Amino acid sequence: PRSIWLSRHGESMYNLSGQLGGDADLSPGGQLYAAKLPSLVLDSVGDRPLTIWTSTLKRTQQTSRFLQYRQLQWKALDELDAGVCDGMTYAEIEEKYPEDFKARDDNKFEYRYKGGESYRDVVSRLEPIIMELERQENIMIVTHQAVLRCLYAYFMNVDMSESPWMEVPLHTLIKLDVRAYGTTVTRIKADI
Ligand code: F6P
Repeated sequence: PRSIWLSRHGESMYNLSGQLGGDADLSPGGQLYAAKLPSLVLDSVGDRPLTIWTSTLKRTQQTSRFLQYRQLQWKALDELDAGVCDGMTYAEIEEKYPEDFKARDDNKFEYRYKGGESYRDVVSRLEPIIMELERQENIMIVTHQAVLRCLYAYFMNVDMSESPWMEVPLHTLIKLDVRAYGTTVTRIKADI
C-alpha cells in the first residue's frame, strides 16, 4: 500500500513573532528540524522511491533542502492567503478589523480574508493536487498549516468543514497509509 508523508515547514521567523502569511526564513529551531528531517524520513520511507512536493514559499524549500529526492514546487500548496491581514498578528487583526476577527471566529471554514482566501477556497484550489496525489505512488508534502489541515481532513475522510480544527503541529512528520478501508496515521515527532 502506498504512503503519503506530510510535514509543515520548520518553525519560521513569522511563527516566532506570531505573524500570519508572508515569506519568512526558518528560525534557528526550524533549521534544526530541516537538518533532522533526512534521517526521520529515511527511517520511515526506507528504500522506497519518493517525490517531494513543496509550496513556492522559502520556508518550505528551506525545510526540504537536505532531502535527497526529486522535488517539485506547487503554487497551489502556498499558505491560505490572509489578504489585507498578511503579516499581521491575531492581536493586530482583532484591533484593526474587530468585525472580521469575530466573523472568522463564528465561521472559520467560510470566512474569507479581505483580498484573500477562506478554508473553502483552499479546499477547492487543492483539488488538482488531490487528483494528482491519487495517481502517484509515495509522495511527501512539505507545506503550511491551513493547507495541511485540508489535505489531512480529506485523507482522514473528515468533513471538509472540520478542516480548520485538524491538529497539525510543527516539527512532526505525519505518515498516512492509504488503505481501502480507511487511512491509518503515524505521527513521528522530531526531538528538537
Ligand atoms: O501562523 C501560521 C499560519 O500558517 C499562518 O500563516 C496562517 O494564516 C495560519 O497559520 C492558519 O491557521 P489559522 O487558520 O488557525 O489562523
